[in-house]
Amino acid sequence: MKKFTCVADIGDLRAAVAEALELKADRYKYCELGRNKTAMLVFFNSSLRTRLSTQKAAMNLGMNVMVLDVNQGAWKLETERGVVMDGDKAEHLLEAIPVMGSYCDIIGVRAFASLSDREADYQERIIEQFIRYSGRPVFSMEAATGHPLQAFADLITIEEHKQTARPKVVLTWAPHPKALPQAVPNSFAEWMNAADYDFVITHPEGYELDPRFVGNARVEYDQRKAFEGADFIYAKNWSAYNEADYGKVLSQDRDWTVDEEKMALTNNAHFMHCLPVRRNMIVTDGVIESERSLVIPEAANREISAQVVIKRLLEGLQK
Ligand code: CP
Repeated sequence: MKKFTCVADIGDLRAAVAEALELKADRYKYCELGRNKTAMLVFFNSSLRTRLSTQKAAMNLGMNVMVLDVNQGAWKLETERGVVMDGDKAEHLLEAIPVMGSYCDIIGVRAFASLSDREADYQERIIEQFIRYSGRPVFSMEAATGHPLQAFADLITIEEHKQTARPKVVLTWAPHPKALPQAVPNSFAEWMNAADYDFVITHPEGYELDPRFVGNARVEYDQRKAFEGADFIYAKNWSAYNEADYGKVLSQDRDWTVDEEKMALTNNAHFMHCLPVRRNMIVTDGVIESERSLVIPEAANREISAQVVIKRLLEGLQK
């Protein structure tokens, strides 16, 4: 594997999940693979899970790890070409990226959407520049439009807990006080479609996602109807994708909060969320603390999804 930004990069999902479960059973089996290799993890945005799980995954493979927080302690970076750099940004990404590449063997990048320019966000300008100019295999640790390491961990978690071959999985919008990117729901939809589950997306009108990610999913505007018979409820907030309202919060309707009454409509569904989560906005205390909640094992599987991806990138270096 030469890069990891979307489901297509991982190839056969059945093989990827099998590899994940093999690594989970013996996570130090390939501890020689990364010897004398360095992973650089570049964060333009905050993180708890991605930062820790990806470092741990790289260390499990015997790698050295360097972490750079671009906005804390590094020079502020200009990302647009043609800008007269007379402001507070001291360095351009076009110099910084190849310099970073010269110090490492693989690069992970976290760079969220601006939520102000849909075209620029959906062109993935920052991570695409890393792919183009670093000279190294690059993997997404959440980019403007996708969070594939999260979606891969979600898939592993569903495969571990499903009771039927083709479970009903529901992605539900839920309220949040701030505008959030569409990266997590986009990737979740992309991976659930690729897994060929019975997949439903529910949200208020105005929150339609990019049709390229929605794919063959059924879209249901009645959240309670969507929940009926569900095996997995995956809650997430996102801001508007449509051109007129891009990046805006259109609703904070708490009637969309996932609560016990709505979970009772499901087939005793498991509750999932990528975290961090706003309790009693996205989900009630009772649901997230219930025995059907998978949020902690789901987060733990972030180490495993990252380890499969880094392992495959290391194997790609040898070809
Ligand atoms: N789910 C996730 O990516 O968490 P962090 O933002 O804490 O990394």
